[in-house]
Amino acid sequence: MTDYEFTGETDWKEVTASEGGIPEPVIADGIQESDRNWDLSKNHREILTSMIMASVNRNQGDACLMGAGPCNDIELNPLIEHFNRVVLVDLDVASVERGMSRQGVLPDERQVQILGVDLAGVKDQLDVYAMYPTPELMEQLNQIAEQHTPNLETGKFSVVASVCMLSQLMFKVYQCLPERNEDFGRLMFNIRKRHIELMLDCLCPGGVGLLITDFISSESLPEILTTHHLKQVVQKGIAEKNFFYGMNPQTIHQTFREDSVSEQLETLEVTSPWRWPTTRRVYACLAFKFQKKS
Ligand SMILES: C[S@@+](CC[C@H](N)C(=O)[O-])C[C@H]1O[C@@H](n2cnc3c(N)ncnc32)[C@H](O)[C@@H]1O
Repeated sequence: MTDYEFTGETDWKEVTASEGGIPEPVIADGIQESDRNWDLSKNHREILTSMIMASVNRNQGDACLMGAGPCNDIELNPLIEHFNRVVLVDLDVASVERGMSRQGVLPDERQVQILGVDLAGVKDQLDVYAMYPTPELMEQLNQIAEQHTPNLETGKFSVVASVCMLSQLMFKVYQCLPERNEDFGRLMFNIRKRHIELMLDCLCPGGVGLLITDFISSESLPEILTTHHLKQVVQKGIAEKNFFYGMNPQTIHQTFREDSVSEQLETLEVTSPWRWPTTRRVYACLAFKFQKKS
C-alpha cells in the first residue's frame, strides 16, 4: 500500500488541518509557552533520549539528530556524555541554539555541532507551487524530492535519529498543494522515501536509525488523552484512516520495503506508541528502528 492508493478515492479520510489534526509547526507564543512545552515534553524526552542512547554502547561513535529544533525531545547532556559527537541538524539554527542554551550546553561545546541544512529541499519550490501550480513545477518538485542531497557527512554516524520532523515535511506539502490527488500522494511518498534514504546515507555500516514520529493528535482522536490502552486506540484510529496526511504508520512501514531502502537494511522494528503532550494537543508517537547492513 502506498499513498497512491488513497489518492482520488472517495474514502480518503485522513485528517485535515480544518479538523485540527495536522501538526502546526511548533511556534511557541512566548517564553511561557516554550517553557511549558519543555516541561510537558519530559516523559517524551526521556523516551527518546533513552532510545537513542540504548542504540549503541557508550563511546561507540557519533549521533546525528535530524529536526532537533528546540530540543524539547532530547536531553543533550546525557547524549554528549554517551557519544563522541552529537550533530544537531535543522533548518532553524536559532531554535537549536535556544534549545542548547536552555539545557546549559554552550555553542562552542566541542562535542556538539549544529548543522543548518534543508533536509527535503522542496520548501521554496512548494511556496511557488502554492501560487502557480503547473504540471512542470510538480515534475520538478518530484525530481528534487527524489534526489535532494544536502550537505551531510555520509557513512559516519553510529546513530541517526529523525526526531518528530517527518510530519512537518508532510505538513508543508499539505499547505502548498491545493488538492488531495495523485500528485499529493506521490510527492509525500518521494519526500518520505528520500528522508529514510538520507538517514541511511549518514549511518556507518551496522549503524542504527530511529525514525521517531508523531502521526496523530488528540484533536481528531481525543481518546488519546485518557486511554489506558493507547496501542489499541491508535490501531483503531489507523484502521479508520485517522492520522495526519502522509503519516499512516503502515504506509511509512511500506516505504521501508522500497528497494533503495530495503536492500540496505539488516533489521527493522516498530515500537509501541506513546504520548507527547504539548500546550496545544497531545500527539501519539512511535519509532521505526532499523539497522544498516554491515
Ligand atoms: C516539530 S519540530 C521537531 C520536534 C523538536 N525536535 C522538538 O524538540 O520539539 C520539527 C523541526 O523540523 C525542522 N524542519 C522542518 N522542515 C525541515 C527541513 N526541510 N529541513 C530541516 N529541518 C526541518 C523545523 O525547523 C523544526 O525544528
